Amino acid sequence: MKILAFEVREDEKLYFEKYAAQYNCEITCIEDPLTFNNLKIVEGYDGISILGKSHITCDLEDSLKSLNVNFCSTRTVGFDHIDITHAHEIGFKIANTNYPPTGVAEHTVMLMLMSLRHYKQAMWRGHVNDYSLGGLQGRELNTLTVGIVGTGKIGQCVIKYLSNFGCKILAYDMHENTDVTKYAKYTDLDTIITSSDIISLHTPLLEGTYHLINDEKINRMKDNVVLINCARGELMDIDALIRGVEAKKIGALGLDVIEGEKDLYHQDKRTDIISNQKIAYLRQFPNVILTQHMAFYTDIAVESMVKCSIEAIHDFIKTGNSKTSI
Ligand code: COI
Repeated sequence: MKILAFEVREDEKLYFEKYAAQYNCEITCIEDPLTFNNLKIVEGYDGISILGKSHITCDLEDSLKSLNVNFCSTRTVGFDHIDITHAHEIGFKIANTNYPPTGVAEHTVMLMLMSLRHYKQAMWRGHVNDYSLGGLQGRELNTLTVGIVGTGKIGQCVIKYLSNFGCKILAYDMHENTDVTKYAKYTDLDTIITSSDIISLHTPLLEGTYHLINDEKINRMKDNVVLINCARGELMDIDALIRGVEAKKIGALGLDVIEGEKDLYHQDKRTDIISNQKIAYLRQFPNVILTQHMAFYTDIAVESMVKCSIEAIHDFIKTGNSKTSI
């Protein structure tokens, strides 16, 4: 069986080799995302493996099918870059990936702690031998209320880690989970918004969650609120975030993902002129920490992403289904 893998980074290659041998597949790896411009190269392959920069629109799905490519697996957990409804309509099989939630959960807690202890400013000062304390007085997690929006695998893991810090934990999800109730109190979204000192998002990007955090909600939050996002950038309206920081309503932002990140993140832009004014503007605030969509990026997660992707296409071909089918 032949698989064409798009958007392959150097660090993924050894795992592609390992699992190609294990699943007895022939795999070609390329760095580019799949687009209409390079679509023809998929001819002769049984399935494709992608990351989030390959936008699998309904037209692209039709074209892939007409080229006899019937299987696509994304090496991501999120699948907002794929038209799932159309894929189901035309019988184009899609799978996502699976990796332990621990890496993203650890990154989330790190962003919370860095935000509370003004660590970005402290680090800046260290670089110029400024060891003063002024303006660096922090807040302790054990005195605060943390609101977790979304209690899927990652949200649950964050809640479990936070339970050791002694903070009060509120949780919101459409589907409540009994394990979560050991550590957190389920409540409605409105209570999370109005009563939390820290709000962290762990929900997928769907039509109903786009700009979940907007001006109206920020205005109703507690003063000095800390907002954390390690899920999807578009869950938060970037203009509303800017207004919230400028008005000093938002005390700190810890964002691993941000609206408009697509042409910037995972690329070395040191010698480029950055034209994304909103991200450049947000980045310069002392209380805004941006990381480059790297919360997932650990050794165990990367291996798992590649393994699941190959396994899914292998299983689709051999059995007609995959345990990570979506
Ligand atoms: C996901 O798995 O959904 C991620 O966000 C990681 C991806 C950017 C590689």
